[in-house]
Amino acid sequence: MMLPPQIIESEDGSHTLISPVFNASYHSTKGAITESKVVFINAGLEYFKSTKDKIAIFEMGFGTGLNAFLSCLWAVENQKELIYHTIEAYPINVELAQKLNYGLLGGNDSLFQCLHTCPWETEQKIVPNFSFNKHQGFIENLETFCTYDVIYFDAFAPDDQPTLWAESMLKKMYNLLNHKGILVSYCAKGSFKRTLKDVGFRIENLPGPPGKREITRAIKGDK
Ligand SMILES: C[S@@+](CC[C@H](N)C(=O)[O-])C[C@H]1O[C@@H](n2cnc3c(N)ncnc32)[C@H](O)[C@@H]1O
Repeated sequence: MMLPPQIIESEDGSHTLISPVFNASYHSTKGAITESKVVFINAGLEYFKSTKDKIAIFEMGFGTGLNAFLSCLWAVENQKELIYHTIEAYPINVELAQKLNYGLLGGNDSLFQCLHTCPWETEQKIVPNFSFNKHQGFIENLETFCTYDVIYFDAFAPDDQPTLWAESMLKKMYNLLNHKGILVSYCAKGSFKRTLKDVGFRIENLPGPPGKREITRAIKGDK
């Protein structure tokens, strides 16, 4: 039997998990919530704040649900409509999710838990302006006709999962985006950015969270 991921506390007080499969942490140990806000909320959602009222997001790797939770809070706070689709190959169980402290730290634990207890494979209205669909499966096998404004590319690091950072996968991400859509990642490795450029993205280097000098925003369609 596979061991479940283990909870640890990161430096900003928020939890993260250590994966026994990949021997890697789900977030920065310098601060899970801090990293998620800088990389996905600030570099991702905020990019469209003044130009779009409805934003479609695809997340690679649902994991703890932290990015989905922060996005939902952002939607409520900013009165935006979010369509949030996510994929996960190794879902954590509901009992483990109940022990994570994101909901308590974010002031809405029932909303956080709802992301874990709601059914997979169907569109759910978590709140009226947050439409959510989680799909269990491997990204390698994903087939969809949906397209998105923002991709949260939140795979484990290239050294842990090299195939997920290969050109064929990043091309697949490019094709999932609408014109002028963006992909955001905590990774700023040169090889990653070169591959993004090769598949057609323009790259922006943005300041990272504690412990990380830069993060990456890749923009489709205006090279
Ligand atoms: C770095 S963690 C990020 C988790 C998540 N975004 C969060 O905030 O907790 C990467 C996630 O991708 C999942 N994953 C790994 N390989 C995958 C694959 N081939 N297809 C889909 N999900 C995968 C892992 O199980 C893990 O939950």
